[in-house]
Amino acid sequence: MKGLSIMHVDMQKFSSDTWSTWTKLYCDIRKEPPWNENFWYPTNVGRQISEELTRPHGEAIVALVNCVFSLANVPEEFVDWAEFQVSSRGQRVVGFTYGYSVNILEMRTLAGCGLLNSLFKRTPRVYYIDELGVDMEYRGLGIAKSLTRKLIEVVKDHGLSCITLRIDKQAYRARHFYEKLGFTEISMHDGKNLNPTYWALQL
Ligand SMILES: CC(C)(COP(=O)(O)OP(=O)(O)OC[C@H]1O[C@@H](n2cnc3c(N)ncnc32)[C@H](O)[C@@H]1OP(=O)(O)O)[C@@H](O)C(=O)NCCC(=O)NCCS
Repeated sequence: MKGLSIMHVDMQKFSSDTWSTWTKLYCDIRKEPPWNENFWYPTNVGRQISEELTRPHGEAIVALVNCVFSLANVPEEFVDWAEFQVSSRGQRVVGFTYGYSVNILEMRTLAGCGLLNSLFKRTPRVYYIDELGVDMEYRGLGIAKSLTRKLIEVVKDHGLSCITLRIDKQAYRARHFYEKLGFTEISMHDGKNLNPTYWALQL
């Protein structure tokens, strides 16, 4: 797609405007069914993503498009429009995925049970994809596929041999999506809640 770039995130180089479009997108997606979660706010999402990316092998891939930021809250008399036209151009996050690696105990804590222990038979750490989301207006264009393929490459570069993730049972698009990428559903029940279904990909 013209003007779209898929980028391996370096938090040091991420501008605050672009970062705020990512946290807002996260909140918007969590409001959709089947989650219907209205309690996410960009500030706590920002804190959560930053913390998760400091975990072992914490990595994020984003899809960016060029945009012009609006200065909705700045009174017109304070704005130098000529300067604003230049400085306000930036990039907006329209898709993201990120994850980190976990050991067997951390996986047990995530799933609330030890039914994923078999994933650790041949490896001490497994990669856990925490989130994947694409802006509603940009869906169906192959963005999630590009993001996930890129993340898989990065995980391989880390020398990890297995990826796992969980999806809400009613997130049919996401289930279909991961199935097409070769993930297989693991037959188990989450020890903490009934909604998620777990998936794995051997690399
Ligand atoms: C799931 C989601 C990430 C897919 O993003 P996307 O960029 O539209 O997906 P892509 O365009 O890369 O689609 C890739 C494949 O996914 C499948 N897919 C995507 N949208 C689909 C839909 N509406 N119905 C059925 N399959 C779909 C298709 O099989 C497609 O493969 P194809 O190109 O060979 O047909 C997006 O719908 C989304 O953000 N949903 C809400 C958040 C979510 O469910 N996150 C994941 C679980 S936490």
